[in-house]
Amino acid sequence: MTERTIKVTVPATTANLGSGFDAVGMALNLMSEVYFTPDSSIRLADSPILEHGERAETLPQGMNNYLLSAMDLIAVRSGRKLTGGTFEVNNRIPVARGLGSSSAAIASGLLIGNELAGRPFNRTQLMEMACEMEGHPDNAAPAFMGGFCLSLMDEKGLIVKKIPVAAHWKAIVAIPEFELTTAKARSVLPDSYTRADAVHNLGAVSFLIAAFATDEPELLPMAFDDRIHVPYRLPLIPGAADVVELARKAGAYGSTISGSGSTMIAFSDEASAEAVRQAMAEGFAMHHIDSETLILEADDEGARLD
Ligand code: HSE
Repeated sequence: MTERTIKVTVPATTANLGSGFDAVGMALNLMSEVYFTPDSSIRLADSPILEHGERAETLPQGMNNYLLSAMDLIAVRSGRKLTGGTFEVNNRIPVARGLGSSSAAIASGLLIGNELAGRPFNRTQLMEMACEMEGHPDNAAPAFMGGFCLSLMDEKGLIVKKIPVAAHWKAIVAIPEFELTTAKARSVLPDSYTRADAVHNLGAVSFLIAAFATDEPELLPMAFDDRIHVPYRLPLIPGAADVVELARKAGAYGSTISGSGSTMIAFSDEASAEAVRQAMAEGFAMHHIDSETLILEADDEGARLD
């Protein structure tokens, strides 16, 4: 028996924003849609996932897909058996490019599973489960909350503070043709840092929070002056240093790696956004790398059921 289709709309997210490694992220208005039509003749693990869009043909089926593993987590935590069904996904969030595709899939699966189970969990509980599945909260928190999110996750639990982003901030992304997995991008990071580097980042992240909380874009160069991950990851992204330099010359407040890469992100005002977009494409093109460039804004709402 087929029941009503559930639809989730979910944003891309950019994590770190320079100095906020594993703690800061923002939702972007690059949205994917996930439709789930329950069918009690299908077991959850066998639910077919029909993907359209980004890397549609290579995305995993079955419990290796975050949509299903997130629904399974709802089943386990709620003690409810969930029926399977058919997924249809309009995916606009590129995979393994530092734009939060895993968090988007996890958030979608959790929201759909929660609907099917009769809403046993509130939104905060769902966000906590998403952060637990990801291992760090910087994409998962804004995927649920929207806006610019500060988060702290430790053995005591998860705390998230959302700051709405003023409309004049434009987020320009340059998505290169090559993928960079988070695992690879994390493998190049050192196990420990000097006190000087830790203290430097405390200063830089203070400016990052101030830039958005008090709406002062001119603070962004200090905010993006990171010593925890950016210097180690730039060599993994050919052309990245030129993208940063050309974006700045074209009028960007600042430019850095989006999440763990390979996408580069810059922020500017509306008047400079098109020049920054072209400059970022040129930065990759100088290294014979094709990129898709988009002018985006913050998404204030986060994942939603329509
Ligand atoms: N904070 C994470 C990282 C984001 O930079 O590794 C990627 O998921």
